[in-house]
Amino acid sequence: MTDTREDTIGTRSNARKVHIRTYGCQMNVYDSQRMGDALAGEGYRTTETIEDADLVLINTCHIRERAAEKIYSELGRIRVLKAERAREGRPLTVGVAGCVAQAEGAEIIERASIVDLVIGPQTYHRLPQALERVSRGEKVVDTDYALEDKFEHLPATEPAAIRARGVTAFLTVQEGCDKFCTFCVVPYTRGAEVSRPFAQVLDEARRLAASGVRELTLLGQNVNAWSSSDAAGGTVGLAHLLRALAGIPGIARLRYTTSHPRDMDDDLIAAHGDLPALMPYLHLPVQSGSDRILKAMNRRHTAADYRTLLDRIRAARPDIALSGDFIVGFPGETEADFEATMDLVRAVNYACAFTFKYSPRPGTPGANLPDHVPESVMAERLARLNALIREQQDGFARSLVGAALPVLVEKPGRYAHQLVGRSPYLQPVVLPAGAGAIGDVVTVTIAGTLTNSLVAEGAHPDEAPARLTA
Ligand code: 5AD
Ligand code: SF4
Repeated sequence: MTDTREDTIGTRSNARKVHIRTYGCQMNVYDSQRMGDALAGEGYRTTETIEDADLVLINTCHIRERAAEKIYSELGRIRVLKAERAREGRPLTVGVAGCVAQAEGAEIIERASIVDLVIGPQTYHRLPQALERVSRGEKVVDTDYALEDKFEHLPATEPAAIRARGVTAFLTVQEGCDKFCTFCVVPYTRGAEVSRPFAQVLDEARRLAASGVRELTLLGQNVNAWSSSDAAGGTVGLAHLLRALAGIPGIARLRYTTSHPRDMDDDLIAAHGDLPALMPYLHLPVQSGSDRILKAMNRRHTAADYRTLLDRIRAARPDIALSGDFIVGFPGETEADFEATMDLVRAVNYACAFTFKYSPRPGTPGANLPDHVPESVMAERLARLNALIREQQDGFARSLVGAALPVLVEKPGRYAHQLVGRSPYLQPVVLPAGAGAIGDVVTVTIAGTLTNSLVAEGAHPDEAPARLTA
């Protein structure tokens, strides 16, 4: 994380320092920032280097087995450092946060005795108290779901920290999930669906905008299920929130992720057509194209429902680009089921997609289903799906060559004569340095494509372009 607090807290020598490592999704990135906020109030500065830190926090992901196992190899490496530091008389406190912390709790300390603190995604506003107990020599596990709202207890992000994080920001508006897809641990690790109140979200968005944020990505495991009461006491949904956020001075772009197809209501679809700030790019996971597998996954929609929904969204916003998530090898998936997924992908034509081999998660119904698909079959299906998606992603990028696109300038490029921005479709765009200032939305003509990015006219990428169509 970016070191942002030197200017506000103490001197380099006496401020305590925290190093936060983040695994997993964007919500974990957001949570790590907010943990940084909670600790800033206690005089901690964030540091990029673990060697420099008094406290290391690992913000973990439990979504697939490999993600969860990474944490233990990470802790193995930290054990050596902690022992060295103890010999030098500079103790290192080790904390595990996030979804592995929630799922495994005290087991983490049993398995990795160097861990001093285990804190869950719903309890990290209590980090200061937990660290106080650690300083008295206790091992602390704080994962009990709080009925209180953690966001009410967290200090607001300091303006200097917002500026240091750049012109785009994540903002969690909804957490948890009540959908219980049979493969997914989220309902167990993040808990039941909860929406942050309208006024609280607006307040945070205004603070972000006042410190230079131009693009907000609203986050939630099931973000399009967000609902709250407005000032008049009526129930409002995500479209209402997006319209209100679009009215905040400085906010130029809005995005939201991740959505469930069943929660795309008419108002939200309409917002895609009539809210210019809402970017024409939607991440709408479907997971499989086979109705049999969708049923076993408890998705509660068919492939045809999904396609009909996309038709409605495309009618509202014809240039919308789509992204999705897919799982291959869910228990019982046959070659015909997999082919149905390939057919759906061919029919939709994705701008981007994320693909995963099924990973059985403890406590989820999927893990107990018969007919687990062999690893070699999963690997082969994943490769086929990835090849198709790569083709679609490249085709989409190539279709933009020659187009004039609005690009939000985000940061300096790799070379002095370049800047990097984002297209409306979330692709990085390499720009010439004179294109605009960081935070500007500039219109540029796309001259070519690199493997995962676009190149604007005049940017002269020094990297040999993979497919630069002049
Ligand atoms: N195995 C594989 N992929 C999973 N995902 C969630 N749970 C699992 C699992 N057990 C994928 C889904 C989801 C994305 C965030 O991760 O595709 O949309
Ligand atoms: Fe998991 Fe998403 Fe299904 Fe909720 S909707 S259970 S978060 S995959």
